[in-house]
Amino acid sequence: MKKKVWIMIGIIVVVVAAAALLLPRLFGGSHRGIDNEPEASVAGESKILVAYFSWSGNGQQMARWIAEETGGELFRIVPEESYGEDYGDCVDRAKDELDHEIRPAISTHIDEAVMAQYDTIYLGFPIWWSDLPMPVWTFLEEYDLSGKTIIPFYSHEGTSSGGNSLNRVRELAEGATVLTDEAFSVRGSSVPDSEAEVKEWASGELQ
Ligand SMILES: Cc1cc2nc3c(=O)[nH]c(=O)nc-3n(C[C@H](O)[C@H](O)[C@H](O)COP(=O)(O)O)c2cc1C
Repeated sequence: MKKKVWIMIGIIVVVVAAAALLLPRLFGGSHRGIDNEPEASVAGESKILVAYFSWSGNGQQMARWIAEETGGELFRIVPEESYGEDYGDCVDRAKDELDHEIRPAISTHIDEAVMAQYDTIYLGFPIWWSDLPMPVWTFLEEYDLSGKTIIPFYSHEGTSSGGNSLNRVRELAEGATVLTDEAFSVRGSSVPDSEAEVKEWASGELQ
């Protein structure tokens, strides 16, 4: 009897560990990193900033539609060291950075005076390991965001709730109002067909 219980516990431990390890590898959607190019620089001529981090392009596409719809200025959070094209390498590095709370350096920055012009920031990211990708941690900690409203949007391949990412934005964006209840998400593989939905959401947020 005792032996059976130990075997059961062993099986449960192995299954849980394997699921934790393999989870992101099992997700569908795009599996290749895109380029590491910044957007054109921002000028602070709009009250809206659309800032995003995207590895395989889904969030980039959503951000571009949101900017079109809202007239917001586009800003890409670009890591100094690219996550490369390979999915496995990206997954491993992301896990290591999250486990050790490493904030990777980013190569794109916004002048303080320009950042001061924005009232609203649409903040886009993919879900990574049920959390916020680490370059977005770096971004949120770099600026004085007090008094600003942050509206998150994200794509995922199963973690539709956003996992821990929305709480993480709240935690890191000190002094900002983070509209977690109004956050918008799309499954990564559905992003190419989601233009109308994304734009409808973005225009609704401005009313
Ligand atoms: C490193 C890494 C970790 C991921 N972890 C998760 C996860 O925990 N949950 C989930 O639903 N999707 C996960 N995914 C899938 C991405 O969230 C999804 O493909 C997203 O649409 C990618 O957006 P992007 O193209 O803007 O980078 C992960 C992808 C990568 C590369």
